[in-house]
Amino acid sequence: MRLAILISGRGSNMRALLGACAAPLYPADAAVVISDRADAPGLRFARERGVETLVVARGDYADREAFDAALDAAIRRRGVDLVCLAGFMRLLGGAFVARWRDRLVNIHPSLLPAFPGLDAHARALAAGVRFSGCTVHFVREEMDTGPIIAQAAVPVHADDDEKSLALRVLEQEHRIYPDAVRWIADGRVRVVGERAVVRGAEAPRGAFVDPAQ
Ligand code: GRF
Repeated sequence: MRLAILISGRGSNMRALLGACAAPLYPADAAVVISDRADAPGLRFARERGVETLVVARGDYADREAFDAALDAAIRRRGVDLVCLAGFMRLLGGAFVARWRDRLVNIHPSLLPAFPGLDAHARALAAGVRFSGCTVHFVREEMDTGPIIAQAAVPVHADDDEKSLALRVLEQEHRIYPDAVRWIADGRVRVVGERAVVRGAEAPRGAFVDPAQ
């Protein structure tokens, strides 16, 4: 399966995906890394790994439709099967999302549908939730919605700040994103209604309580 990985910044999830792709038995390969920002630090890493990189800047296009169309053309030209948003900070329009329906995935740093959008960690902390985490999901038009493929939950500590919570969650992002992509590439993920079903995957047993006794 050929991947396009879309980034806007640091690219640590992109690195996790590229790392997975480098393993001989991993069923996906990175065809291209695309950024909407020429200064995204992730671009250099991808280039050093020998992955083709491309900048598609919003400012070079008259409107979002033209920008989305340029992205779509670049992705198609490279024979991409699955588009992975990895810290891509632009909302893609309805036409693009429809075109890539169930072949477009995103990772978000909360247990969706809680805390979609920006500042997920700050809002989780303000809400006083005892668990937060991350979600890999197929993309629908509304921001951070769509069938959930995988989630990881982490406890929120009483003395957490945004940085410490983000770090704990990020570690899990790097774990579940490559796993979710592998399941898709292996043909194990089906969307039924608006739910994603992963064949042969089991939920963990038991419950987690926070605070623990
Ligand atoms: C991650 O927390 C991801 O969940 C969110 O944006 C952040 C991107 O980080 N969508 P990175 O660029 O992958 O390091």
